[in-house]
Amino acid sequence: MRNTAFFLGKGGVGKTTLSAAFALELAKRGKRVLAVSLDPAHNLGDALGVMLSDRPAAAAPGLSAMEVDLGAWVERYLEESRSELKATYAYNSSFNLDSFFDIMRYSPGTEEYAMLWAIEHVHCELSADFDVVVFDTPPTALSLRFLALPTISGLWVKELAKLRERILEKRQVVTRLNPESPTAASCVDKDDDRVYGKLSAISRRLGVLHRLFAEESFLSVIVNPDVLSVSEALRIKDELDRIGIGLDAACLNKRGISTASWRLDDGLRRLPFFELDFRSEGIRSLDDLSRVDVTALAAEFLGGE
Ligand SMILES: Nc1ncnc2c1ncn2[C@@H]1O[C@H](COP(=O)(O)OP(=O)(O)OP(=O)(O)O)[C@@H](O)[C@H]1O
Ligand SMILES: [Mg+2]
Repeated sequence: MRNTAFFLGKGGVGKTTLSAAFALELAKRGKRVLAVSLDPAHNLGDALGVMLSDRPAAAAPGLSAMEVDLGAWVERYLEESRSELKATYAYNSSFNLDSFFDIMRYSPGTEEYAMLWAIEHVHCELSADFDVVVFDTPPTALSLRFLALPTISGLWVKELAKLRERILEKRQVVTRLNPESPTAASCVDKDDDRVYGKLSAISRRLGVLHRLFAEESFLSVIVNPDVLSVSEALRIKDELDRIGIGLDAACLNKRGISTASWRLDDGLRRLPFFELDFRSEGIRSLDDLSRVDVTALAAEFLGGE
């Protein structure tokens, strides 16, 4: 059984609602479940009717919930990078690190990295206390970027490691030709090289996250009975396919909300398909949530159990 679930889809299709209903259903079936909001808009607490913080707290029997404080993770990510760079460039006081970090705070990718390390924290530090972790995701663009980051950054890091190997090989040649040269005193072996060691460590961390997304997670895409949410779901599927992450289910949520014509594209139709009715009375409490019938979806997730 996979022990992590993500719900993806266009804004407003029901990611938060289905994450909460799904987490609640698994808890009812005796699983110890942690629901985690990755969405800076933080609607999960409203859906569950509890105030959430950045630590797991009980939300219902068997169910704990928390929300990731993205701002705090951005600060932590910047701080770690700052100490790392300060240590590396301690000899070079002319390099103005503070202005560099002012720029980095607003540079593209910082939020996605922060989110990735927050997910790593949940996966590596918190998930051992639970049978299942359910992530409520932010809007599509940000979700696709953090899901793709381990693959994209992994390629970068691999190329940087190759470059570093070439530098070390050149140092070895210089050392052989002239054992008295200053190069001979520097590191020539990748097993002893700090930079190579650091690149390998980053590569391992990214590998763990890619495996989490591609092999250990159950990913559902949600659509509503409308053309736009289906187009977005198809885009999500195509982008994830490109980075080797497969979807496990498609959910039609709010069935019956409209009579407009729509159709599930072939690419999505091949996925296990689940339908959830539109509840015209609204979803305002845990009771309402438990009426969103995710039993078949939970059974699919639990597989043969
Ligand atoms: N099956 C349903 N029946 C009735 N209302 C629903 C259903 N599913 C979701 N809703 C309602 O639709 C609205 C949007 O749902 P929700 O917040 O779960 O979507 P979301 O995909 O998480 O949105 P966002 O992209 O803003 O995070 C909410 O008011 C929710 O109560
Ligand atoms: Mg939401």
